[in-house]
Amino acid sequence: MKQTHSFRSTIAPLGALALAASIAITGCKPESTTTTAPAPSKAAPTGESTLVVGFAQVGAESSWRTAETQSIKEEAAERGVELKFSDAQGKQENQIKAVNGFIAQGVDAIILAPVVETGWEQVLKDAKDAEIPVILVDRGLKVSDDSLYATLIASDFVAEGRMAGEWLAKKTEGKASIIELQGTPGSAPAIDRKKGFADALKEHEGMKIIASQSGDFRRSGGKEVTEALLKVHGDKVTAIYAHNDDMALGAIQAIEEAGKKPGTDILIVSIDGVRGAFEAMVKGTLNCTVECSPLLGPLAFDAVEKAIALDEQPKKTIVEDQVFDQSMAEAVIDSRRY
Ligand code: AHR
Repeated sequence: MKQTHSFRSTIAPLGALALAASIAITGCKPESTTTTAPAPSKAAPTGESTLVVGFAQVGAESSWRTAETQSIKEEAAERGVELKFSDAQGKQENQIKAVNGFIAQGVDAIILAPVVETGWEQVLKDAKDAEIPVILVDRGLKVSDDSLYATLIASDFVAEGRMAGEWLAKKTEGKASIIELQGTPGSAPAIDRKKGFADALKEHEGMKIIASQSGDFRRSGGKEVTEALLKVHGDKVTAIYAHNDDMALGAIQAIEEAGKKPGTDILIVSIDGVRGAFEAMVKGTLNCTVECSPLLGPLAFDAVEKAIALDEQPKKTIVEDQVFDQSMAEAVIDSRRY
């Protein structure tokens, strides 16, 4: 704790400058850049922990989320950062409490993966007043003033949804009756992946979403919703689009229990690219996954360091994703890092 106080007192004047710099940047047009998710930092820890960072995580709803948490924790350890971790169990009020707690503890920076897009104005103002930069990872949010956060590091969720839709349109030659399994209502990936997929479908009259419900990004949610919708729509269903792999894996179970062959009787496309999805593609039960890298630790801590050092950085860094289908799964499965 002593170290923490001495670090904060050393950087206190810099904090004020950082705030001024972020205000200045906001006045300009927001910039963005694209990147691929880098490998973890190889830098050896310097020995003593000097920087204290709070990480307000959504929860542990999916294997993607667990991989992201691990990436942030590993990178903090690599850099000798003291990480204060909070799991909000999928509830915004818990995340707000966690951020307020980090502010009260006087951390040097906060990493936030916002569960939903709206409702952050006040807590971000409080962080700004306390001169604590907030780095958004994985999910964006909507605020009236984007100087309330330092930067966002995330995938382009609209593009992911579009890639999933285009893949399915090609595979089915533009004809499918689709069940959509949505992510958490109000979250950026659920909103944007829905939009991107719908955009891709506009060009194909024969592709229809016949039912769309939330499975909350959970395997159990994907299974329950698929079970219920198969009872209603039966043989009409020819494809499932899941906003994440975990829900697709739950859907696979439900389809098997209904006596059908997932991946053959019903095509399944999802998003994330987690190991379980690659295993399912090798088995033939999942047809396609669009990657969304959770390995954001290195980029997040680069952003933390830049925010504290007052270095300029883009308002948004987009992590590039790619599409993997069954034909590629076997060849790449061993090289997957999550
Ligand atoms: O925000 C990213 C999404 O959140 C991932 O696709 C999903 O698995 C997670 O829970």
